[in-house]
Amino acid sequence: MNLHFHNFQPESEDLHASVVQGLMRTPKQLHPKLFYDEIGSQIFERICEQPEYYLPEVERGIFETHAREMIACLGENCHIIEPGAGSSKKIRFLLDRIRPSLYAPMDISAEHLLTSAQKLARDYPVLPIHAICVDHTKPYRLPAEIPGHNRVFFYPGSSLGNFDPVDAIHFLRDIRGKAGEDGGLMIGIDTKKPPEILNRAYNDAAGATAAFNLNLLQRIKSELDADVDVESFYHHAFYNERLGRIEMHLYSRCKQKIRVNGSAFQIEAGESIHTENSYKYTVEEFQALAREAGWKSDRVWLDDKQYFSVHFLRSC
Ligand code: AVJ
Repeated sequence: MNLHFHNFQPESEDLHASVVQGLMRTPKQLHPKLFYDEIGSQIFERICEQPEYYLPEVERGIFETHAREMIACLGENCHIIEPGAGSSKKIRFLLDRIRPSLYAPMDISAEHLLTSAQKLARDYPVLPIHAICVDHTKPYRLPAEIPGHNRVFFYPGSSLGNFDPVDAIHFLRDIRGKAGEDGGLMIGIDTKKPPEILNRAYNDAAGATAAFNLNLLQRIKSELDADVDVESFYHHAFYNERLGRIEMHLYSRCKQKIRVNGSAFQIEAGESIHTENSYKYTVEEFQALAREAGWKSDRVWLDDKQYFSVHFLRSC
């Protein structure tokens, strides 16, 4: 068996502490990593199939159009590390074309990570896979089994958008350190574009994004045995042009209280819980951010409409 599992995740992560801290703040906010319980991870996959959510399809098109150049950047014997790998679907495109020496998917959701890694192990039997269950927004160390050279981080899907710009620099600097002197980073970044397109992408007609957002309350209700009326909240997302980000919120239809294990939180009619930011960057903005984190821009590819960008960065 070529599959190894490393669990760096305390069993019941501090969901309770995170929820209580978030609801105590003004305005109320919950961290987007809390979306990804098993059900949330599945709903996210459904978002990726919505026609309005252009990101995965446009990114995939960029990979298909520029596959040869991208593969040349990675090199044959690389060790690919993917933070927030989720279902590990995107890496298959590369695994069908090159033979990396190792693949290390990392994800916060242990169950999801393990099922995905097992499927991958079946489909790529000679590939050594090291699945790492970890919250990559917190400090962690990579297992010693992952060789220190030829490391390439793979961070597609514009996941970086969840970080505030300052935290994005910290994250990029951290993986720059882990990538080492000969390391690389292949990263997908959603670009700035007309707000209508962005707003549609995060308010899809089928309601997948709404279900994703509301599942967070459902999770809090079931996992923390909280007293919260999920139905009295609704999803809405909008592009904040000044800050260059999509904001996702859960709005309360009425004045009510949320009770979590002894703490009660008053919420007014029309008040929201801010659940996610998704920052958008022009090519130049992202390159400046990456530079600040110690990366050198090597290549950048975009689709014809310039809706999405894929960057390859090098340590030096
Ligand atoms: C996984 C953070 C890239 O911001 O587009 C999709 C999450 N939220 N629809 C994004 C998300 C609502 C997604 N990222």
